[in-house]
Amino acid sequence: MTGIVVAIDGPAGTGKSTVSREVARRLGLAYFDTGATYRVATLTCLREGVNFDELSDVAAMVATMNVELILDPQNPHVALDGEDVSRLIRTDTVALSVSKVATNLEARPILQQIQRDVIAREVEGGFSKGAGVCAEGRDVTTVIAPEADVRVLLTADEDVRVARRAGEGADAATVREAVLGRDKKDSTVVSFHEAAEGVVTVDTTHLTIEEAVQAVLDLAEAARQKGSEGS
Ligand code: DC
Repeated sequence: MTGIVVAIDGPAGTGKSTVSREVARRLGLAYFDTGATYRVATLTCLREGVNFDELSDVAAMVATMNVELILDPQNPHVALDGEDVSRLIRTDTVALSVSKVATNLEARPILQQIQRDVIAREVEGGFSKGAGVCAEGRDVTTVIAPEADVRVLLTADEDVRVARRAGEGADAATVREAVLGRDKKDSTVVSFHEAAEGVVTVDTTHLTIEEAVQAVLDLAEAARQKGSEGS
């Protein structure tokens, strides 16, 4: 018996993080926010004074950073050199530079390998004791875990995505830039607006969180049944 892998991607404001955490919690899985690896890499570079335009320097820093990911869906956190940096990686300072790391094609493969290793560990043991993992992030359904048991692309209309983030504070123009502007930057290296083959699109425009969670749980249940028929 190996654990289940649920992979969820999609742009900002689709409910990706909330849905992924809740799905992980209900199914007893680890919750893996792959974006956190880009954020902690960015924080490391900022702390060490690495110039983001020096692609190899960034990649070298990423390859040697000392990061621990705690994949508890009830209390996920990230440690850098033993220090809990979960809040720090969410600051504007990190958010403003994170695309520099996410679009660095020397650093990206290193982070992608770290992510694949995390997922592989959870399928055998790790935090979930082998129950598996719900992983979320721009390229998890396509590049990181294309063989995942469940692959979901969450979408929602642009205006709804912006409105959801605006509900979390900040003024409309800043939020519009944060949601659409950053997706645009990231789109230069990853495609996350169209579902790849085998990826199920769940449009959350008119769904509550609970309905979106249920849609993913239904897909997980269908995958489980298919898996037990096949074995
Ligand atoms: O989801 P987030 O805002 O925490 O992501 C942080 C950054 O990392 C953002 O620029 C998107 C990028 N990212 C990525 O390129 N691939 C992933 N799998 C996850 C995040």
